[in-house]
Formats: sequence, structure tokens, C-alpha cells
Amino acid sequence: MWIDCKTIAKKIEEGVRNKVERLGTSPKLVSVVGVNDPSVLSYLKSQMKKARELGISYEVVEVDGRSVLRVIEELSRRQDVHGIFIARPLPEGIDEKEVAAVLSPEKDVEGIHPRNLGLLAYEEERFPPCTAEAVVKILESCCELSGKRVTVIGRSVTVGKPLSLMLLKKGRDATVTVCHSRTLDLVNATRSSDVVVVAVGRAHFLKRDMVKENAIVIDVGINVVDGKVCGDVDPSVAEVAAVTPVPGGVGQVTTALLFEHVVKALEMSLHG
Ligand SMILES: NC(=O)c1ccc[n+]([C@@H]2O[C@H](COP(=O)([O-])OP(=O)(O)OC[C@H]3O[C@@H](n4cnc5c(N)ncnc54)[C@H](OP(=O)(O)O)[C@@H]3O)[C@@H](O)[C@H]2O)c1
Repeated sequence: MWIDCKTIAKKIEEGVRNKVERLGTSPKLVSVVGVNDPSVLSYLKSQMKKARELGISYEVVEVDGRSVLRVIEELSRRQDVHGIFIARPLPEGIDEKEVAAVLSPEKDVEGIHPRNLGLLAYEEERFPPCTAEAVVKILESCCELSGKRVTVIGRSVTVGKPLSLMLLKKGRDATVTVCHSRTLDLVNATRSSDVVVVAVGRAHFLKRDMVKENAIVIDVGINVVDGKVCGDVDPSVAEVAAVTPVPGGVGQVTTALLFEHVVKALEMSLHG
């Protein structure tokens, strides 16, 4: 069985559109791109289309090498810019921590700044990383998390780690196991879980015999095999569990949440 993520994304987008209308002013998102990669440019094109649909002003700034840091610093100071998105991969020699250091936490709509990540440990979700938030929204739409055993495969700073904190949050109350490449007996964890989230980056990593029947499986992965986009979950898993599709799953909800954060950033700049 496949989980319908389109409806979740549409609902978030509708909320964004309504809020922009009510605000009477258009929030502005600037995407910074530092590498000339066709798949990144195609993603930014679809981002621009979505921004237009939602009434959000949008600009792409192309940068060269280390100037990415100066540009982000300048954008962080600009009053007319409410959100800054930084396309990956970053230019060679630049790391995530350097970027976060020059980015205003108030415009950190992706949720990568240490202040916004740190707030998650205090159970405050100001700008949580969009993908982690997307997983939580999808799960909340299809089950009661409290009391559920959840296995998250992957411990990255933007997906696995923040997601585990968000699932643990009081009120959600999931019981979380985080696995990674050094985990021994991963199958034991996945097979005894009600929910499995896979954020590994390997096509068809999670197989049907690794989950229990009627589990919920969230596929975060984006891989390209023979020119086709696919997730980290083998399609046969959907014969025994409820699975989010790739494409048209977590990614769609993630994009909708990015725009929701841009509106929130504008609101915060108006009302503090
Ligand atoms: N849909 C979206 O909106 C969205 C957003 C972000 C990312 N993604 C996709 O999600 C995937 C993961 O992204 P990421 O940024 O989190 O990747 P990442 O930083 O490369 O992290 C991958 C994680 O997988 C773990 N891993 C690798 N091989 C493993 C194995 N054999 N068994 C168990 N764990 C293993 C790694 O463990 P170690 O830590 O031990 O190395 C690491 O923690 C990618 O396909 C990416 O494109 C999608």
C-alpha cells in the first residue's frame, strides 16, 4: 500500500497561499546556487514554479566558489529577503558549518543553523529541517505516534538526528532507535518496529523481509538508477507495509514546508 503524500503537501500549500493572501505582502525566498549541476538547476526551476503558484517572491543568485559565504552574509542582512535556501552540493572547499556561521537564523528556512537545530533538543521547533518535519507530518497524518517503536536509518545532521529528536518530543512520545552504517543487526531493529524511516541514500536498500507486516515505512531517499528517480525502499515492501512513494512522497511535503517556513520568517520579522 502507498501513502498519499500529495494530499498532505497540497494542504500545506493551501495554508501557505491563504496566509500570503491574508498578510497582503509577498514573502521573499532567495536560492543561492554555487555549482552548475543540471539536476540542481532543474530542482530550482520547479522551486520557482511553486513559489509563483503560492504568491512567494523568488530569486536565484548564482555564485562562484567561496563568494557563496559573502553572498549569504549579504542576503542575511537584506530587509526584503525573508528566507535563504542554499542549493547542494556546496562549492568545493565550503562546508556546512561555514555556511551556517554566516546565515541569519531568522532566515534559516531549511533549519540548518546550529541555533535552530539546538532548539530541537529543547523541544522547540522554530525552523526544524524541512525533510525531518515532512516525515513527522506524514507520520502524524497516518498514525498515533505515542507508544510506537520507530527505527530511523541514517544519522545525518539534516534528517536522521533532528528527526529522532522530533519523534521523541513530549506529546509525540515515540520510542526511537537510530541506526547507521556501523549498526549491528539492523534487521532486528527494523523487523520489531511499527515505523521505519529510511534516509540512507542507497536505492532499494530496505527489502520486504526487513519489515513487519502492516508497518509504516517512510522513504526519504532520492537515488537515480538508469536515469530514473527511486527511493531507498524496494517497491516490494509496499506489498506488506504502507510506504511513501518516490518520487511524489517526502520530497513534495518537504518543498511545501520550505515555503511554509518562508511565510513564518516574514511573520516573525513583522511581529517578532
Ligand atoms: N526527500 C527529501 O526531501 C530529501 C532531503 C534530504 C535528503 N534526501 C535523500 O535522503 C537520503 C539520505 O540523505 P542524508 O543527507 O541524510 O544522507 P547522508 O548524510 O549521506 O547520511 C546517510 C546515512 O545513512 C547511513 N548509512 C549508509 N549506509 C548504511 C548502511 N549500509 N546501513 C545503515 N545505515 C547506513 C549513514 O551512516 P554513517 O553515519 O555511519 O555513515 C548515514 O548516517 C539521500 O538519498 C538524499 O538524497 C531526501
